[in-house]
Amino acid sequence: MGIQITPSMLSADFANLESEAARISNADWLHMDVMDNHFVPNLTLGMPVIEALSKVAQQPIDAHLMIADPDRWAPAYAEAGAGSITFHVEAAAAPVRLAREIRAQGARASMALKPATPIEPYEDLLPELDMVLIMTVEPGFGGQKFLDLCLPKIRRARALVDKHGGDIWLQVDGGVSVETIERCAEAGADTFVAGSAVFGADDPADMVEQLRALGSA
Ligand code: DX5
Ligand code: ZN
Repeated sequence: MGIQITPSMLSADFANLESEAARISNADWLHMDVMDNHFVPNLTLGMPVIEALSKVAQQPIDAHLMIADPDRWAPAYAEAGAGSITFHVEAAAAPVRLAREIRAQGARASMALKPATPIEPYEDLLPELDMVLIMTVEPGFGGQKFLDLCLPKIRRARALVDKHGGDIWLQVDGGVSVETIERCAEAGADTFVAGSAVFGADDPADMVEQLRALGSA
């Protein structure tokens, strides 16, 4: 399977999410950043907005939950229409049960790791997952600088995912742009979130294609 470009709607115009999604019809997924001002120091959107956008957008929704107590909330995001649900492993009380509940709702289950969270303690979780998200900034805000210190972890995650076989996607999120995407791809990422790079471009769809070309190389 080829790589996937997943623009973050955090950098889109929140007053016009439907038309913003239509501007990037060549994107594979729409990345929706849910923040609760608890797990991260920012507040964005939640289930009702995801439900509304999922009804009008062509692309499936990749919900990135930066929230406390994902055990309680994450499965409901599948009912709200998200096709992929990422919870932070730092916040999950019972990640195995949670991943199984997400899959039981028919969505893809994914775990995210903040920059200082190692992947090795979670190796045994991989068979329960459809994707691993390696954060390349501290979660909470768009437009931050890419953290090169995360590259070795992308490599280690790639090795673990390959070792376990299956079809687990490896996503990177934070500071991904034409300047940094090749480094991520070279380290083994195959699914790329980009917010400010896509929606800050004059032509967001063209930027999606530029990122796809650089990320595929
Ligand atoms: C940050 C979010 C990201 C953010 C990325 O906590 O998880 O998805 O929107 O924005 P950029 O691509 O601008 O770093
Ligand atoms: Zn995100």
